[in-house]
Amino acid sequence: MTDANQSARKSNPFQPISTAVLEELKAAVGETFLLTEDGMLSEHGPADTAQVSALMRICNSHRIPVTVRGAGSGLAGGALPVYGGLVISMKRFDKILKIDRKNFQVTVEPGVITEILQNTLREQGLFYPPDPASRGWSFIGGNVSTNAGGPKAVKYGVVKDHVLNLEVVLPSGEVIWTGSNTLKNSTGYNFTQLIVGSEGTLGVVTKIVLKLQPHPTQNLILLAPFRSAESACAAVAAIFEAGVTPSGLEFMERNAIDWAVRYVGETPVPINEEDEAHLLIEVDGFHLESLMADCETISRVLERFDTGEIFFADDETTKASLWKLRRNVAHAVKRNSVYKEEDTVVPRGELPALLRKVKDVGARYGFESVCYGHAGDGNLHVNILRGSLSEQTWNEEVPKGIREIFTFVKSVGGTISGEHGIGLVQRQYLDIVFTPTEMELMRSIKSVFDPNGILNPGKIV
Ligand code: LAC
Ligand code: ZN
Repeated sequence: MTDANQSARKSNPFQPISTAVLEELKAAVGETFLLTEDGMLSEHGPADTAQVSALMRICNSHRIPVTVRGAGSGLAGGALPVYGGLVISMKRFDKILKIDRKNFQVTVEPGVITEILQNTLREQGLFYPPDPASRGWSFIGGNVSTNAGGPKAVKYGVVKDHVLNLEVVLPSGEVIWTGSNTLKNSTGYNFTQLIVGSEGTLGVVTKIVLKLQPHPTQNLILLAPFRSAESACAAVAAIFEAGVTPSGLEFMERNAIDWAVRYVGETPVPINEEDEAHLLIEVDGFHLESLMADCETISRVLERFDTGEIFFADDETTKASLWKLRRNVAHAVKRNSVYKEEDTVVPRGELPALLRKVKDVGARYGFESVCYGHAGDGNLHVNILRGSLSEQTWNEEVPKGIREIFTFVKSVGGTISGEHGIGLVQRQYLDIVFTPTEMELMRSIKSVFDPNGILNPGKIV
């Protein structure tokens, strides 16, 4: 249990669930779907908006905390019920309600697994691009709640860029739609964008309308090795300056790729001893010739940054194998060490300086880090390894180092989370990016939506 978790429990301002309230909750969802003892949460939970609304009304009137849970794949502790109370599993909201080909839209329930949604749409030539590494098990609702990103964000944008409209249950039990099913909307405050990324602190999302586009038919992938990790980072901005927007531009430090190779047990390409880092670059579209031309441009740019021999993947098996490596880095790191996951993001031209800063802070505080991530977005995942650090260093010194990294990130126009959210674990650092006035605005918004503070307490604000 984290320190934040422990201190939250010590000062719990909420009411426990009494026997009488339990009866009300059972009546709202049906006894079989309310889990009160150890068991599989995923087999329980409400089935529709009306049941969520009933649960919210009960919890709001009795001041019982409510934590909404998707697949639990988040990396910031957003789905942890730190004050106890009711956890609402969205597992039974698993339907793709309507694929509207004419308007390039889909209406989906939040418990649909992202990759299942993507594959279903693909069968019809439709494309929903945001593809977090967890897409094989994370829920689309969780992706909305954290404003998830993933490798394709660099060309297609993050989740917020694809959400048109949301059905949301407020703590009062009232149900609202946040916007309209249109590509444009200049009508009043933008509730949709307020809810996206709010990590279950303002309302419970029960339906999602997403914007779609035609699915690209072609793609090509390059894997470029670099002697210097900083050079790899410096090459990133130069690719865009040369006029190419890749559909994926991922950075992996040496340990990230080595550990992933070991973890998945596949080596699609030989990795040279002397390489410090790799860029995995994908271009996609509808015309192979133009993608080949993009790859040539990219290769010419990379040569200026002392790249080694560039590996070119054009068959589906090798491409899939390279993406599998990349998507498994987080698991591979977890296998190697306890770690703290940071999700820094800077304007992409600042990436070399960010990497230098991370390594410099690590050297001063005595921690090792493995860095990888969505370089094209300037989004660097910094995994700080526990290794053999003492309890005291890990809990007291390392956070000071993280503070230094975050302060740097802010100073170059970046922020402390690009796609994972704030949840429980990054809350202690919010003062670095928000002034007291800005924090007060956030708290005010929270209290308008959730005056009793029952929704996912202990998260963000
Ligand atoms: C990734 C997750 C950790 O990019 O965001 O692999
Ligand atoms: Zn990521």
